[in-house]
Amino acid sequence: MPQMERTFVMVKPDGVQRQLAGKIIGAFERRGLKIVGLKLLRITPELAGRHYAEHRDKPFFQGLVDFITSGPVVAMVLEGKDCIAMVREMMGATDPQKAAPATIRGRYGIDIGRNLVHGSDSPASAGREIALFFGNEELLDYDLGIHKWIYE
Ligand code: RTP
Ligand code: MG
Repeated sequence: MPQMERTFVMVKPDGVQRQLAGKIIGAFERRGLKIVGLKLLRITPELAGRHYAEHRDKPFFQGLVDFITSGPVVAMVLEGKDCIAMVREMMGATDPQKAAPATIRGRYGIDIGRNLVHGSDSPASAGREIALFFGNEELLDYDLGIHKWIYE
């Protein structure tokens, strides 16, 4: 059994409004990642401030909070081998114009403030963000039947 990791991923308000939530979730599913938590929610300014606390002093902070609270998001916890780095690679560079074409941001985005998806950037961030958005009872432990066809 490979060492499994969990990461926090979110389809941002632009992704939900553009009806790309299914495509984005599907990309992670098709890669073989397991969904262990999933919900639609509207982020409050308070939660936005906690989620993006590291950016509190940046010039783009207020715009970021206004944007992330502007409509529903799809929050999820994904599980898989080395999935924190893998999800970041699948998302592409923060600025969609610099993101490789086969990435989610490179495929669907143009502006840095409309980059569709969030993914934790380290194990420490993943632990913090999962706890911020999900209670333990919302994270399900179950076997994925196709596991042996994804992992050797
Ligand atoms: P995220 O946290 O949303 O997954 O994105 P990230 O790690 O790739 O980028 P991060 O540096 O954490 O920045 C968070 C979000 O802030 C917006 N941003 N705008 N105008 C700017 O220079 C600027 N820099 C960052 C982006 O929307 C980014 O996703
Ligand atoms: Mg970030």
